[in-house]
Amino acid sequence: MHSLIYRSVANDSFLLPEIYSMLSKAKDHNAEQGITGCLLYHNAHFLQLLEGDEKELEQLYGKIINDKRHHTVELIQKEEYDRALFKDWSMAFYDYGLGDSAQQLKMEQIDAIFNEEQVLREKHASVLPFFVHVKDILFA
Ligand SMILES: Cc1cc2nc3c(=O)[nH]c(=O)nc-3n(C[C@H](O)[C@H](O)[C@H](O)COP(=O)(O)O)c2cc1C
Repeated sequence: MHSLIYRSVANDSFLLPEIYSMLSKAKDHNAEQGITGCLLYHNAHFLQLLEGDEKELEQLYGKIINDKRHHTVELIQKEEYDRALFKDWSMAFYDYGLGDSAQQLKMEQIDAIFNEEQVLREKHASVLPFFVHVKDILFA
């Protein structure tokens, strides 16, 4: 099981309706390829964790890099580990969407760790703990 984490910046015209439409195709594709992961969308930035077999991940990442809907794609980390973190998710997505107060609280918590852990600003030794944290918050 391999994982790959990158960040990028959404183009101005790539907004939530377009992102949701991209995601619905991405989930089908990921399910076929045994790829799982989590995509976070925060202030027009994406941070995505992809998990799966190395070959499939490299193929997908190649497409993602060339996708004109975002830019400044930057690989943060590639790692091998035993078990997928988001094993039941063909692509969990979190956009800080509309929300009740529980959603609002999750948003604030994720915002806080985004800032605390500086994942969008610095090269990180390991971003995986950040995703473990995000997962705990999202599925609490
Ligand atoms: C931020 C972002 C995340 C994406 N995540 C995925 C993904 O998890 N799985 C996927 O199949 N495509 C994803 N895509 C779309 C791919 O870049 C590509 O359009 C898609 O795989 C279809 O490629 P194809 O038409 O050449 O088969 C993502 C695109 C962007 C901009």
